[in-house]
Amino acid sequence: MSEFTFLKGPKDWWRQAVVYQIYPRSFSDANGDGIGDLNGIISKVPYLQQLGVDAVWLSPFYPSALADGGYDVDDYRDVDPKIGTLAEFDKMVDALHKAGIRLFVDIVPNHSGSGHEWFQAALKAAPGSPERDRYIFRDGKGENGEIRPSELSSHFGPTAWTRITEPKGEPGQWYMHLFASEQPDFNWDNPEVREDFLKTLRFWSDRGVDGYRVDVAHALVKNLANGHLPERQSYDLSLVKHDGTDDLFDRDEVHDIYRSWRQVFNEYDPPRVAVAEAWVHPERRHPYASEDNLGQSFNFDLLGEHWKAGRFKKTISFNLASAAKWGSSTTWVLSNHDVIRHATRYGLPDGLNLDKWFVEGGVNPPVNNKQGLDRARAATMLILALPGSTYLYQGEELGLQEVLEIPHDQMQDPQWFRNPGKSRSRDGCRVPLPWTSTGTSFGFGPGGSHLPQPSWFGDYSVEKQDRDEASTLNLYRLALALRSQLISDESIQWHRHLNSKVLHFSRANGWQSVTNFGTKPVKLPAGKVLLTSQPLVDGKLPANATAWVK
Ligand code: BGC
Repeated sequence: MSEFTFLKGPKDWWRQAVVYQIYPRSFSDANGDGIGDLNGIISKVPYLQQLGVDAVWLSPFYPSALADGGYDVDDYRDVDPKIGTLAEFDKMVDALHKAGIRLFVDIVPNHSGSGHEWFQAALKAAPGSPERDRYIFRDGKGENGEIRPSELSSHFGPTAWTRITEPKGEPGQWYMHLFASEQPDFNWDNPEVREDFLKTLRFWSDRGVDGYRVDVAHALVKNLANGHLPERQSYDLSLVKHDGTDDLFDRDEVHDIYRSWRQVFNEYDPPRVAVAEAWVHPERRHPYASEDNLGQSFNFDLLGEHWKAGRFKKTISFNLASAAKWGSSTTWVLSNHDVIRHATRYGLPDGLNLDKWFVEGGVNPPVNNKQGLDRARAATMLILALPGSTYLYQGEELGLQEVLEIPHDQMQDPQWFRNPGKSRSRDGCRVPLPWTSTGTSFGFGPGGSHLPQPSWFGDYSVEKQDRDEASTLNLYRLALALRSQLISDESIQWHRHLNSKVLHFSRANGWQSVTNFGTKPVKLPAGKVLLTSQPLVDGKLPANATAWVK
């Protein structure tokens, strides 16, 4: 273990951390195969350090057939050869830690990839065998088992069941997958599955990983006893029961699993931490975050919040209080690899059905890029001033817009393929980053890019923004540097502004944040203006802007 680099420090380092999400295939490509890699990340550690983030969250980098961008994991304790090697992973941890940056890795416990050795063994074994019992295999209905076991549909549509061919060649049993058919769900009632994940957590924690982002954390335990099988859509969250007894999600028993993970986390100094991706009722979100549980749970509420001061305030207050009740801190998220970039969302009318808008071409209504970027910058400064941790998604520091012009035949997202004409493709926020204004794949790598980059990407490049004092990149750098000096305890005080379209609060040490959600410039409170997301107009804060004052 001694060859690995560990970062010591307080056990609650994560409570107000700024965490930068790297989607490894699209960040930086060192070997020129068109897919980002670990050496690419290592080469950008100085960039991350200059940006001023406290931690990086790495989306899956494990061996994978990439049926769902790596969320189909074939081996939980290795690195995808397309991305690098374990030795390079260790080098990356070392480089990050030396720069004072901690590392979260994604853990995908609900399902593996269909190339996982356990799933391959299950296909070769007989119905009822221990190998099949690690997943959810059932006989079909009908005379010859030709009818799927239930009407459960997958998140990506259509059905959540796929029939296999038995080893001797005849059509056989069916297995359950809440996502793509290449993502068979584990049977978490099987102790072997539980043990194996503890082994995985120790494997990465021993290599210096500081924390985990837990994929679909609320889905692991399902009610499948006595032949019961859910018959419903799995993506319609309005169908989920909120009392811990739903057939598929957020069952109370799932917390037993995370309490056992916590015991592993506490074997380390500082204890490892995890953040749950749990799409559950807001009141049931924070139990995942309690001290004997994972530590933190994502609050995604701002992703769909309307651009209104009152709504922001309500959402913020609720999440601060609710996280505190469970002894945790909340998270603020405006973008990630699953949603339309916030610079684009904010350029569209509030409440628009984004899936429908996207599948209808993403042109009606058109995106108002200026409004989108102004609001994105303002919202980012606002959340950075709040107590709790902030999760940033690669490219948002460039003010990147969603890429809406990817030709259909170059899309990669199973959500798009499995539900034609109904679901949005998530590829538009996963296009490789523009590092330079010109040149092969805008500096992403010497060999092209696995998703097509639009010609306007050069205007958003790091190279261009580096030189421009007013750029979004430099705004993020300044904001993160200031935040690290200004940050204090997790209290917040709300202030009434004369204008109800303004959100004004301060932190314990007098650091004030003012956001103008209205359309006219507003007065700022007394004090020194430290940073603004837009230049002031006659000393006033313009529409769609945030100022920090002390
Ligand atoms: C991830 C998605 C992924 C899904 C299945 C999530 O919520 O964020 O990108 O498709 O889990 O693993």
